[in-house]
Amino acid sequence: MELVHRDGLARIGKFKTKHGVIETPTVLPVINPNKITITPEEMKSLGAQGIITNSYIIRRTDALREKALKDGVHSLVSFDGPIMTDSGTFQSYVYGDMEYDNRGIVDFQRKIGSDIITILDIFSKPDDTYGMARDAVDETYSRMREIEVGDGEIIAGPVQGSVYQDLREKAARLMSSSDAGYLPVGGVVPLLESYQYDKLVDIVLTARMNSDFSKPIHLFGGGHPMFLAISVLLGVDFFDSASYVKYARDGRMLYPDGTRDLVKLRTLPRWSPIYGKYTVKELLDAESEERTAALSRHNLAAIFMEINEIKERIFQNNLWQYAESRARSHPYLYRAFRRILERNGDLVGFEPLYRKASFHYYDSYSNSHPTLKRLSEFTERFLTENRKETVILPFGSRNPGKRDYGIIRDIYEKYDMNLLVPWCNTYVPIELEDTYPIEQIISSDITDERLHRNELLKVEKIIGKGWVFEKKEMKDHSDITEKSRNFNLEKIRAVADLQFGHSVGKALFPDGCRIITSRATGRLRNILLNDQILATMRAQDGFFTLTVAGAERIRDAVEYPGLRVSVTDDSAEYNSKGFNVFFKFITEYDRGIVASNETIVVDSKDNVVAVGRASVSGREIGDYRSGVAVKTHHSIKSIKDPSEE
Ligand code: GUN
Repeated sequence: MELVHRDGLARIGKFKTKHGVIETPTVLPVINPNKITITPEEMKSLGAQGIITNSYIIRRTDALREKALKDGVHSLVSFDGPIMTDSGTFQSYVYGDMEYDNRGIVDFQRKIGSDIITILDIFSKPDDTYGMARDAVDETYSRMREIEVGDGEIIAGPVQGSVYQDLREKAARLMSSSDAGYLPVGGVVPLLESYQYDKLVDIVLTARMNSDFSKPIHLFGGGHPMFLAISVLLGVDFFDSASYVKYARDGRMLYPDGTRDLVKLRTLPRWSPIYGKYTVKELLDAESEERTAALSRHNLAAIFMEINEIKERIFQNNLWQYAESRARSHPYLYRAFRRILERNGDLVGFEPLYRKASFHYYDSYSNSHPTLKRLSEFTERFLTENRKETVILPFGSRNPGKRDYGIIRDIYEKYDMNLLVPWCNTYVPIELEDTYPIEQIISSDITDERLHRNELLKVEKIIGKGWVFEKKEMKDHSDITEKSRNFNLEKIRAVADLQFGHSVGKALFPDGCRIITSRATGRLRNILLNDQILATMRAQDGFFTLTVAGAERIRDAVEYPGLRVSVTDDSAEYNSKGFNVFFKFITEYDRGIVASNETIVVDSKDNVVAVGRASVSGREIGDYRSGVAVKTHHSIKSIKDPSEE
């Protein structure tokens, strides 16, 4: 799997098969080789890049088997793109019989030329006992192990484990460590059918977090458009869908936000490929086969329209907002979304440092967004390390980001105390006023009194109740001429602490460094020490871009391998000229690297050769084998000044 774009756990990737490259996320429509309603070629024109069919059905049916063995599965279904074949596990779960064994089934899929071959896994139901589910995980793993995977062959090793998180984790780890190159999450159809999306959140997230990130995750049976955005947000790359035709047979139509009955419809939507070809009445009066085909077309179009939008949102860096809006289309989806919020602690590790899209704040639930969770953890630590008089500025007295360098700055410099700004029902240190997401926010300004009070109590608990002042009358300070500190210096140190870790700020920016502000905007711009630029504060997100000189100061202050990737010496030579760092040349790295944050590139002796931006988090770096890990922007042999970026 090669990464193209990433937004948290969601990603656009490229997955290579023998019959072509698939760009994910995508849905593989299910083809029943006995009854092809829509040809795969037509599916392609509706957006499908590959299809999935069932090797068990092909093998059981004499005519299909003979043709598939003779001409191959691609010829059987008349499709020259990537074909995944399933093994019959699901049929054995539904009908209870299975006359073939694992090796035989895999071998058959090989003989018919399948691009993605599925082993015969053991389907665990959500209501299976723990013991049953555990045995199924173990047995599925040993079936994976008994398959010898050939060069270039892709074997799907399903992750089972029912609703037991520790078993899902175990299954994900075992399958990742095996030769399976593709990881479907199995046993979830009963949950999808009963709308238990919240349980799916746990299952998918646990599977994704504990799997090898270079291997795609597939959600077996999860092709309904309404659940796609949430699933992709949690890291699903592939889906399959038989629903497009099953629903069509029942006169049901898929929409991005749910399902509608043809009989209850007034008009067809304009985006549908059957709009203008039929009226609702004509469809109702049509022969059932014609109606099924038309509705199947519509349903596939709905699926791929949603996939298209999801990909666009990944690219725009605002899939979260999209999933949040989708979550409002059904109470069960909303329940799932709330479950995602509860698991924000797991998501923080994959959260990028900043996004190019502004942050949408709706109400107190937005405070659980992983970005705000990270910020609130920072604030807690900031206060713990600065336990002194703390003044909470009146709401609106100073909008973070608004440059009223007047009385407040004056007070800040004369009195050594914390100034906190009320922001989104919580409090943030004033030093972070320009930094993402504090300034880059679009807020409803909806106040939640309870949350606000709780946040205040949290501050009081850290600082000590008598030391926190709300709406404090500022003493007359005009007689004080001594400044105890410099606002800009404290500000750049606080931002550096947030960006690089606590106490890095002081090491990176010592007393005596020079801060240059933009003449046009008054914003902080370059930070210099002895006429050398250490870092540049970016106008758009308020974080720093480092130079090699800045990176060296961090390297000296942070224990190896903190904030860095160590590369082979050949790669170091190449990166020192300004070329990007590829995953495959990284020898050691910090597991705490934050995606899109500045990352220091060092050689085997910890010499800084370059600095750049991490394309993924430290949790993922070790898994990828192809693609760019760090996009370098400054290096020891480059001549370009990074402040000119
Ligand atoms: N189709 C739907 N669910 C499953 C599953 O758990 N395993 C396999 N192999 N196919 C499926």
